[in-house]
Amino acid sequence: DSHSVTTQLDTGVHAPSRARIGARTLRKDRWWLPPALTAAGLAVFVIYATVRSFMRVDYWVGEHHYLTPFYSPCLSESCVAGSSHFGIWFGELPGFIPLAFLSLPFLLGFRLTCYYYRKAYYRAFWLSPPACAVSEPHQKYTGETRLPLIIQNAHRYFFYAALVVTLVNTYDAILAFGGENGFGIGLGNVVLLGNVVLLWCYTLSCHSCRHVTGGRLKHFSRNPVRYWIWTKVSTLNTRHMAFAWITLGTLVLTDLYVWLVASGTITDLRFIN
Ligand code: FES
Repeated sequence: DSHSVTTQLDTGVHAPSRARIGARTLRKDRWWLPPALTAAGLAVFVIYATVRSFMRVDYWVGEHHYLTPFYSPCLSESCVAGSSHFGIWFGELPGFIPLAFLSLPFLLGFRLTCYYYRKAYYRAFWLSPPACAVSEPHQKYTGETRLPLIIQNAHRYFFYAALVVTLVNTYDAILAFGGENGFGIGLGNVVLLGNVVLLWCYTLSCHSCRHVTGGRLKHFSRNPVRYWIWTKVSTLNTRHMAFAWITLGTLVLTDLYVWLVASGTITDLRFIN
């Protein structure tokens, strides 16, 4: 009879209310491709970002005042001269602490609890579920109601922290227009500025931002300014997944560019001065 199909616990996809289907999925397409690509993309970024964050070399181009976002803000005596745009708050840091230790945990928290990245890694790594109409291997499903996943609710606070970090990155990008020889524009400025613009697109397209601007309003007509902002944020919000990926790419490219120039592998292409 139908009960003999399920031998496991009567929870999750085996719950009595669910259709009794023995096969894990009836899909015939390559449903595993998107989660596999997601896992590969995220893995590449995490490996690159981890290696670079601990390298402690070639993160600052003194001549043109380029600072990679992976080392910003640099607040300790371990930072190379000139790279501490906000002063020196701490002494020497041991090698196992990244120089941007003040911003990295918040950025990590912001991305880890992001609505889009949640979908990405729930599917790609936890297989919960890996794709639509593909049953998950887990026996139980408790959603985001318990530790550790209940922490996902803190996303709105990470959003505020990320706003501050994006402001810091913007400040870095503006300072980079004034190098050792005064005002100038090089390819590095274009890269740093482009990265910051896209970081703003990612940050402002956040679902929490959308709620901050237009949420909990009973009457849009009585709040025309918030309504207007909300419509703009909503437009950005429809592209949030794209910005999530684009900014992973621009962060790596920006860091790589600073790395290559700082190490003398390439010279910065100068347009002005
Ligand atoms: Fe993705 Fe907030 S950053 S939802």
